[in-house]
Amino acid sequence: MNVGDRHYRTIWLSDDGRSVEIIDQRWLPHEFRIEKLGTVAAIATAIRDMWVRGAPLIGVTAAYGVAMQMAVDPSDTALDDVWETLHETRPTAINLRWALDEMRRFLKPLPMEQRTAAAYKRASEIADEDVGLNRAIGENGLEIIKQIAARKQPGETVNILTHCNAGWLATVDYGTATSPIYLAVEAGIPVHVYVDETRPRNQGAQLTAWEMAGHGVPHTLIVDNAGGHLMQRGAIDMVIVGTDRTTADGDVCNKIGTYLKALAAADNDVPFYVALPSPTIDWTVGDGLAEIPIEERSGDEVSLVWGKTSDGKIAQVRVSPEATPAANPAFDVTPARLVTGLITERGVAKASREGLKAMFPERG
Ligand code: MRU
Repeated sequence: MNVGDRHYRTIWLSDDGRSVEIIDQRWLPHEFRIEKLGTVAAIATAIRDMWVRGAPLIGVTAAYGVAMQMAVDPSDTALDDVWETLHETRPTAINLRWALDEMRRFLKPLPMEQRTAAAYKRASEIADEDVGLNRAIGENGLEIIKQIAARKQPGETVNILTHCNAGWLATVDYGTATSPIYLAVEAGIPVHVYVDETRPRNQGAQLTAWEMAGHGVPHTLIVDNAGGHLMQRGAIDMVIVGTDRTTADGDVCNKIGTYLKALAAADNDVPFYVALPSPTIDWTVGDGLAEIPIEERSGDEVSLVWGKTSDGKIAQVRVSPEATPAANPAFDVTPARLVTGLITERGVAKASREGLKAMFPERG
């Protein structure tokens, strides 16, 4: 997507052919900074400390990390070690494990002298594939937006609520939840997006709002607690969120707070859609609540908030007493029964084992 008049992806191979460059998302929306990552250690830090974040982008970044390891040591042991090192950086998003598994499956049968070049090629392919998947999700989600628009008065706005950032910053390009929104804007459908701020790290306020502003999408920032009220008032036509891991039974794990939006949507008959590329489906898990590991992050993310001061400095301030401990579960699980549909690259699936199997028969 464009930043100013220049097109960017969130990650790309550097001119040296060995490092990658990323948009360092910790500084947005206040500063647009690009970082170069050239080692597995740097890749691990960037994922763990959320310089890059969002399930698909984490996976692609890790794939390049495997390639960097192969350039240093292309042995089987090194391949297994880098899988372990990167896998433990963030436990919930399944795209990380998917990308690491895919790299290892692809590289293991190859002779060692071919592994470096093959690894960089495969990592770049995974990045390109992500763009294609997200574009297809956009086209399938656009049909839903069109149907909602068709039920309204001509020219009337379709109001969409989204949570966290499942935008182009969370992927290589387009985003998942935002892809149908961008395509709707391109198609001339009037849309307006309610952006949940998404405490504690404010991915909505800092990243989704920045994306929407950058692409001229009408949007309004709301506190996380406002969504239910707006739904009761009829102000929301649909919810679209992303997901970090969706189970074979259709349970959806996503940023903390997603479940509460799904509950409010169900109570108010607001359709609740989840946009996801197939690498986000964990076919090995059925019951999301019982089986998905939920990342616990530092309580400091709750007690301390980043922002820009009036004198232009980016600074952190404390919002709670020093002595008050904070808990920070980063994700929650929305049961399949609360999900209207799963917008995938192949079409919109019912959130159920049967629905997903019908869409991906080769996994059944
Ligand atoms: O903790 P984050 O910022 O990595 O969490 C991101 C989300 O929860 C997104 O909604 C999810 O990864 C889908 S991104 C297309």
